[in-house]
Amino acid sequence: MPDIAYEQARHGSSIGQPLTRRDGFLKVTGGATFAADNRPEGMLHAVLAVSRIAKGRVAHLDVAAAEAHPGVVAVMTPQNAPKLAADPDAKNDPFTFRLDLLQNDRVRYAHQPIAVVIAETLEAATEGAELLAPRYETEAPRIGLDTAEPHKPQAVGAGDKTAATKGDIEAGLAGAARRIEAVYETPAQYHNAMEPHAIVAQWDGDRLTVDTPSQGMTMATMRLAGLFGIDPKNILVRSPFLGGGFGSKGFLSGPQVLGVMAAKLVDRPVKLVLRREQMFGPVGHRAETRQTLRLGADGSGALTALDHHTLTATSSHDDFYEPASALSRYLYAAPTLSTTHSGVRVDTGTPLFMRAPGEASGSAALEAAIDEMAEACGVDPLVFRQMNYAEAEPISDRPFSSKALRECYEQGAARFGWERRSAAPRSMRDEAGRLIGWGVGTALFPALMMQAEARAEIRADGSGVVAIGAHDMGQGAWTALAQIAADGLGLDLDQLDFRSGSSDLPNGGIAGGSAHTATAGSAIHAAAAAVLAQLSDLATNDENSPLFGAGNAGVYASKGRLIRRDDESRSESFTDILARAGRASISASGKGAPDPAARESYAMHAHGAVFAEVSVDPDLGQIRVTRLVGAFAAGRVVNPRLVTSQYYGGMIWGVSFALHENAVVDPRTGRVMNPNLGEYHVPVNADVPSIEAILVEENDPHVNPLGIKGVGEIGITGTAGAIANAVYHATGVRVRKMPITLDKLLG
Ligand code: MOS
Repeated sequence: MPDIAYEQARHGSSIGQPLTRRDGFLKVTGGATFAADNRPEGMLHAVLAVSRIAKGRVAHLDVAAAEAHPGVVAVMTPQNAPKLAADPDAKNDPFTFRLDLLQNDRVRYAHQPIAVVIAETLEAATEGAELLAPRYETEAPRIGLDTAEPHKPQAVGAGDKTAATKGDIEAGLAGAARRIEAVYETPAQYHNAMEPHAIVAQWDGDRLTVDTPSQGMTMATMRLAGLFGIDPKNILVRSPFLGGGFGSKGFLSGPQVLGVMAAKLVDRPVKLVLRREQMFGPVGHRAETRQTLRLGADGSGALTALDHHTLTATSSHDDFYEPASALSRYLYAAPTLSTTHSGVRVDTGTPLFMRAPGEASGSAALEAAIDEMAEACGVDPLVFRQMNYAEAEPISDRPFSSKALRECYEQGAARFGWERRSAAPRSMRDEAGRLIGWGVGTALFPALMMQAEARAEIRADGSGVVAIGAHDMGQGAWTALAQIAADGLGLDLDQLDFRSGSSDLPNGGIAGGSAHTATAGSAIHAAAAAVLAQLSDLATNDENSPLFGAGNAGVYASKGRLIRRDDESRSESFTDILARAGRASISASGKGAPDPAARESYAMHAHGAVFAEVSVDPDLGQIRVTRLVGAFAAGRVVNPRLVTSQYYGGMIWGVSFALHENAVVDPRTGRVMNPNLGEYHVPVNADVPSIEAILVEENDPHVNPLGIKGVGEIGITGTAGAIANAVYHATGVRVRKMPITLDKLLG
């Protein structure tokens, strides 16, 4: 009953409200149980030993010394690791990533787990792991885009085409009045959620319970079922709270599975928590890229050609390619277009999805190139974007399901004060004499939909229950999805029991691709609509109801009552309807999924524009981002407070991308040399003095019944490029290798 439901959302009192997090109190008082907070009876502590070499084999481990250490219960190595029911190197589908689970002595990357020490205390396990004193047979690692072995990707990102072209790119470039060609580089970045990967695993015969942060509990269940040869019904994954994920908790990682193996080995509950440095290897990262952009424009400043090629790295043993050229298929209206990728194999952990995979690094390069093209044409960089953004998706010519990019440019520019920008580089200074630069970048992220199911129920007392195995990775799913559920059922939030975060609930899909609210929300919405349809059947077919004869479409629900549309004075409470029908409750299920017909007809993306101000010390090159204004249009805003917070988070990551993050890999050893938050820099409050997000209104009738697009990732896109462009405007120096640090300005 999509239209009852749609009306419902409009009439409802929860969607659109800036509610604070419903779990906020629990979180700030320590009442929220994160995975590592669980301590089942008899629990042991497991600590990973990880490889210091990047390629070769483990020749010797002093297992006897570790075993002799007081408190150590067992040492798990390839000698005694439980045999698995499936080869963890088997590649059944592109998203089953190969895991290193102590099945042999081979080392494929630095920080690969090589043993697990299990002890009565964390200290004993840590000390035991030190005593292993591994010796290696070392081979020279292949590190970096130049020294490594070329490898042709079959697909990039989540199964995207490696190449997509339109028209004759060489002709488009040759015929251009102005051309630019530039190479941009982005470094490897490592997921560093506040909560490192952690697991508490308990076996009871062939039943397994795990507490572990997950962005995809059903996928985790299926992976565990396959590896251990048990029925998925015997597995319970609990993940009520995550301290961030950013893509690295989408698939179960090797260390999490090792925790389950350790529990099996010792036949006791085991907790395994990664140390911060162990996050730099076995749980994914954003691979480095080298992107070559060639752009052409005619004499009026209209793009004639856009060629975006990405060279990126994957691991020696698995395939994930950062799809950095892909966003050039969707954004600017060049009549000739080429977007391609090539790869190399290196001896690192396998790269993985990381917040705005592809779009983040691709946008950092594309937005800088657009700036260079605008300058070559002598056109203001904002005006150039306003002239050249696509009215229909360039690669497919499909219309956008909705598109408020022009409003994003206008509202962002007005708020930022862009018209006061003086065009020439090095022409703006503050009172202290620091160079000021203003830059802009376009933001974009696809509006994806995954698959999810939910169950909804209305009980005789008039209260509601909505259940879905959804994932709150910090973005606020407990709150936003409950708001959708409350409106879906026509209840106030305090009448709703919202259950989530556990794999024994209906499959909530995955929290990824910025699609969780849209997908899980659609499932909830459909389940709630199905319950209301049953309820209105009961009432409107009953002569004793004031709703008799109104028909299903003739009523809507609000505040625990069904109300006639044609006469709002006539209504009946859920309680009365159920009581007269003699029902204790009614329930129904619903699904969320993409609508293939709509997706054939329309291209679906969220859009935005980000404006950045930097100040640069003219002598020392020290860079500060002093202001960020982002304007984003992403369909219906379920909760403006949480959506704003997502945009802030994304934009702050854009600052991180442009100025801070850089995993430095020693080419001799293949080790990340800064595997800690002291030396792997991310922005702190002082790095982002002023940040604003404007929620641009957008009604998208095609994307899903609720009109929701994702907001989790788009904030990074646009921002890194805007900052690079602002640094150029401040200094006159184009730094094409991120992060932009002061040495690159002075060099
Ligand atoms: Mo995201 S990188 O889809 O968690």
